[in-house]
Amino acid sequence: MSLRAAPRRVLPPDASVPGAPPRHVAIIMDGNGRWARARHLPRVMGHRKGVEAVRRTIEAAPDLGIEVLTLYAFSSENWRRPADEVSDLMGLLRHYLRTEIAELHANGVRLRFIGDTARLSEDVVAMLEQAAALTASNRRLTLVLALNYGSHDELIRVARALAADAAAGRLDPAAIDAGAIEARLDTAGLPPPDLIIRTSGEQRLSNFLMWQAAYAELVFTDELWPDFDAASLKRAVDTFGQRDRRYGGR
Ligand code: FPP
Repeated sequence: MSLRAAPRRVLPPDASVPGAPPRHVAIIMDGNGRWARARHLPRVMGHRKGVEAVRRTIEAAPDLGIEVLTLYAFSSENWRRPADEVSDLMGLLRHYLRTEIAELHANGVRLRFIGDTARLSEDVVAMLEQAAALTASNRRLTLVLALNYGSHDELIRVARALAADAAAGRLDPAAIDAGAIEARLDTAGLPPPDLIIRTSGEQRLSNFLMWQAAYAELVFTDELWPDFDAASLKRAVDTFGQRDRRYGGR
């Protein structure tokens, strides 16, 4: 027997356990428009079908061992879309919150929101806050909706908060570390994403969880978001299971 100990991989404190399912899965839901165009339907139909895929994904996630599911529902850049599409997306969100919070709550889903709520309508913000309060102690799944979210915007808000604390004498600039930044991110208290999935064949992050994704595994699938289902999620989780996560070590 060799007396030399096997090299022990030193993982960062928030690293996932090797072989374990991803604790936090984040999804860039892309391809609603192309799904509709392929069927000669208006884009809003693609978004409506996208909400059905949202339902299927939330239902399937806990059985795969996923604890946190983050969905990129509206980016800080999506305001550049035509006004009627923005209004359709906000209408779908409103309808979703009005009709599905009770069922999510009954199913043990905790709701959280990331993004800058300042630009969202007051009634939507009120529903988001009520939903978060109602479901705060649920543990089966944490569903994080990214709304008016963009990493650049999030990091600008973090920088402003740090600068304000430093200017007020509450924070020594030399003491700013990763923990100080993470405590001010919209995702404070959540584990970083282990797996980021993007549908529709596009292969980029598009300003999504850029700080948090430092060690995330990326899985790109050609499926369009309205076609995404439990089997698609399982395939992505299986692909994640084949990856060797080294976190910069060896
Ligand atoms: C990207 O497809 C999708 C979006 C910008 C919005 C995602 C929204 C939903 C799935 C519905 C609302 C969600 C909730 C939680 C109520 P795209 O329009 O960019 O598609 P394309 O690239 O094919 O045009």
